[in-house]
Amino acid sequence: MVPELKGKKVLIGITGGIAVYKICDLVRRLKKDGLEVKVLMTEFSTRFVSPMTFEVLSGNPVFTDWSNDPLAHIHLARWADTFLIAPCTVNTLSKIATAQGDNLLTTTVLAYDGPLLIAPAANHVMLSQKAVRKNIDSLIKDRSAVVIKPEEGLLACDEEGEGKLPSVERLYDWIVWSLMPKPLEGKKVLVTAGATREYLDPVRFISNDSSGEMGFALTRTARWLGAEVTVVAGSFRADPPPEVDLIEVVSASQMLEKVLALYPEQDIVIMNSAVADFRPTDRSASKIKKEESLTIKLTRNPDILERLGREKKNQFLVGFALETENILENAREKMERKNLDMIVANPASAIGSRDYRGWIIYKDSEEEITAPSKLSAALKIIERIARLTAP
Ligand code: CTP
Repeated sequence: MVPELKGKKVLIGITGGIAVYKICDLVRRLKKDGLEVKVLMTEFSTRFVSPMTFEVLSGNPVFTDWSNDPLAHIHLARWADTFLIAPCTVNTLSKIATAQGDNLLTTTVLAYDGPLLIAPAANHVMLSQKAVRKNIDSLIKDRSAVVIKPEEGLLACDEEGEGKLPSVERLYDWIVWSLMPKPLEGKKVLVTAGATREYLDPVRFISNDSSGEMGFALTRTARWLGAEVTVVAGSFRADPPPEVDLIEVVSASQMLEKVLALYPEQDIVIMNSAVADFRPTDRSASKIKKEESLTIKLTRNPDILERLGREKKNQFLVGFALETENILENAREKMERKNLDMIVANPASAIGSRDYRGWIIYKDSEEEITAPSKLSAALKIIERIARLTAP
């Protein structure tokens, strides 16, 4: 899906918890996207899902001990580009934090010095013990590990609390994050996504068909490259990106208000949302009743991007333009009129297609972008923004 990920080597360490079954889908997902996966299991975890399942899904032998290779811990540690332990029991978490190597998994962690992701999953009381919290803090501080926050919900033990293994999508996103360079580290990025809605009455509105997919892809990929990202979204159908602040708004006026409040502290702002250019002049407090005909008077909405362009200080401002003809000329005109640093021009014919084709327009040049998916196109756009905003 994202060609840059092809051939990257992911080592997954599995310890004994009921959530092991979720890792089957994660391995499938990674393989499908062209990554290589090797699985390392503790003896106890093999009681939940058989190593054979992971052998088939990963296309590689599964490692549980040193029986096939006396240097397995070194070979696996050197092979991996990234190492995720999921689900990670409180027991294994504490052993890693205190540098114990009593099985192949914990010994491999000792021999490994690349990006380490740990996804604890356990009963919420077990995870909240002071000693466990201290071990988590030490893994983050002393080992530079990422400890992925468990999710809240009904746990396998029938108690409610924070202890569930994160979704496959979240784990996948962290793996990709750990594999990417971080040119946007320390930068704050604001993305807008989706469609605004302008209500006529309590149940009807004027809007458009934006799914939010491109805005969310830009959000995800900006996070992958190290940025701290906030996304302000109108209505959307696409899945919201994990691990970022999502602020939901309804109308263009609300979007303007939120974006302006966040604007001063941003380094980069990407306006991808499809903002309604008009809103009904009057909004009926009660549902409009049927009549022979109805005339709706519309008022121009504020142009958020134009306003940002006027109030720009040091922010790098990016707009989007959807065009049916004279794509490059029209987009460049918008770029100049709205005082942008970059605009991405998309032909209207691209709507609904899986492949992506568009142009990035810079101050004095253009670049055509083609990609197999919106996510991959978004990564290219974010990479260009990172390059242009590098110190
Ligand atoms: N935009 C905005 N506020 C609006 C309308 C658009 O911030 N009220 C932003 C969009 O998020 C996008 C860019 O402006 O980044 C699009 O510019 P626009 O001039 O509206 O172009 P189109 O949407 O392509 O529409 P048109 O060609 O009709 O002007």
